[in-house]
Amino acid sequence: MKRLIESPQPEHDPEFSERLIAWQKQHGRHQLPWQQTRDAYRIWLSEIMLQQTQVTTGVPYYHRFLQHFPDVGALAAAPVEQVMSLWAGLGYYTRARNLHRCAHLVVQQHGGKFPADVDLLAALPGIGQSTAAAIAAFAFGKRAAILDGNVKRVLCRVFGIEGFPAQAAVERQLWQCAERLLPARDIESYNQGLMDLGAIVCTSTRPDCARCPMQTRCVAYQSNRVSALPTPRPKKITPERRTVMLWVMHENQLLLEQRPPSGIWGGLQSLPELERLGGNHDAADVYSEARMALADIGEIETIHELPAFSHAFTHFRLHITPIKIHLAHRYDVAAQAAYQWRSIDALATAALPTPVRKLLIG
Ligand code: ADE
Repeated sequence: MKRLIESPQPEHDPEFSERLIAWQKQHGRHQLPWQQTRDAYRIWLSEIMLQQTQVTTGVPYYHRFLQHFPDVGALAAAPVEQVMSLWAGLGYYTRARNLHRCAHLVVQQHGGKFPADVDLLAALPGIGQSTAAAIAAFAFGKRAAILDGNVKRVLCRVFGIEGFPAQAAVERQLWQCAERLLPARDIESYNQGLMDLGAIVCTSTRPDCARCPMQTRCVAYQSNRVSALPTPRPKKITPERRTVMLWVMHENQLLLEQRPPSGIWGGLQSLPELERLGGNHDAADVYSEARMALADIGEIETIHELPAFSHAFTHFRLHITPIKIHLAHRYDVAAQAAYQWRSIDALATAALPTPVRKLLIG
């Protein structure tokens, strides 16, 4: 993985945890309701609620759950409908169903006590690796690394880790980084410090670098890349296609072509296109192709290219070059299957594709 500038490899980097722990003790959060306890049930409940929910939204739900279900046995014994209705408004309802399933398993498989082991915790429904580590650290003082979205942002910036963090290789690197940084003691303040730094200082927009304990050693700050890290999700590359459309007029009549029933604009009426010239924009070629295409339709009086424009489909972008043509005469041949002349006064009711309608009518 590419690094911005040679950043201290967190092989042995006690300074990071020392600064973080000192900062957490002085400036971090200490009064959150789930910080006043070592009860694994309460810590688990808070961590599940905070997975996709802000602290201020989660607090009243946390208190309400505890009033109704003071321990894991009470939660396991409740009907799932009651759990769902108390969760209503928090969103991501899989969390509530897993919460209830997890309570059952803790009662049935662990005698009503949450296990202290990270891997056993992570085997329970709704508890991922990072949540398991948070519970193990906050409830049992276990030396376990957390890595939620906030922590990823902090590590990407401080250590200049490049690449979209949800990519497997980047995520692996972040886990290694998080494991190596773990302090020998005070894991609770350390993990809480990581969460607090990400939530209060190292925010995704408008981070408060002036107050950050890592400022002097933050690779992103030192290289003026704070807003560029973490690397955003890569943009999807949209394929591009090109076409030339013939806007053919004879007096007040417009030449339209019926599109085949399937494919883009299936069944609509559109302008004839020069398919063979999809990618070629040499004006002389375009004009000679247009003359050939119209050989049986009429005699060209004027021909000129209009400004190109593009239209976005869900899976590609179509670049359209319109060619405006006036016919001096229209040959009186039997109508060709797909072609049709239509009065421009009747265009309002024609089934035209949106970009064609915009081109013709505005
Ligand atoms: N987000 C996730 N876990 C948290 C915790 N224990 N305190 C504050 N915010 C959190």
